[in-house]
Amino acid sequence: MTIAVFPGSFDPMTLGHVDIVRRALTFVDEVIVGVGANPSKSHMFTPEQRLELAAQSLEGIDGASALAMPGLLVDFCRSVGASVVVKGIRGMGDYAGEEPMALMNRNLSGIETVFVLANPELAHVASSLVKDVARHGGNIKEFVAPGVARAIMHKVTIQENS
Ligand code: PNS
Repeated sequence: MTIAVFPGSFDPMTLGHVDIVRRALTFVDEVIVGVGANPSKSHMFTPEQRLELAAQSLEGIDGASALAMPGLLVDFCRSVGASVVVKGIRGMGDYAGEEPMALMNRNLSGIETVFVLANPELAHVASSLVKDVARHGGNIKEFVAPGVARAIMHKVTIQENS
């Protein structure tokens, strides 16, 4: 039984993330999405909301689940019995950021990171861009699960009225 952790801030989860989960499940038995925080980003959603929206996005996918990831990724992997980390790569920009983290995580614990190349049809789908499209009145339904689209629109409306 091979368990992978797919870590991220998921602010919020997009259909690009969901595609990475589905494709990881073709070579591992279980994917646990670890919902952490990225201190260099200011998040639209609280940790609890990001976890809930990730879980909603994964509904109906056998072998996929989402858990809060406090602390170090490598400690989280150990606690859930994961032997591999999975990350999606949309291009060289993602790779540049991911490479040092993968090397650090291997140095800390020996855990390997497997990079899954984004589906070219979804390679432009980033949480930050989806939120920006929504803030400017664009349609985001094709980029995120229906519940996520509603949650983003709700936040955008609150922000507009505050
Ligand atoms: O989606 P993001 O913003 O790229 O996610 C970054 C995240 C949460 C995966 C990263 O910050 C992380 O792994 N945080 C856990 C703390 C940790 O292990 N830090 C050392 C990384 S080498």
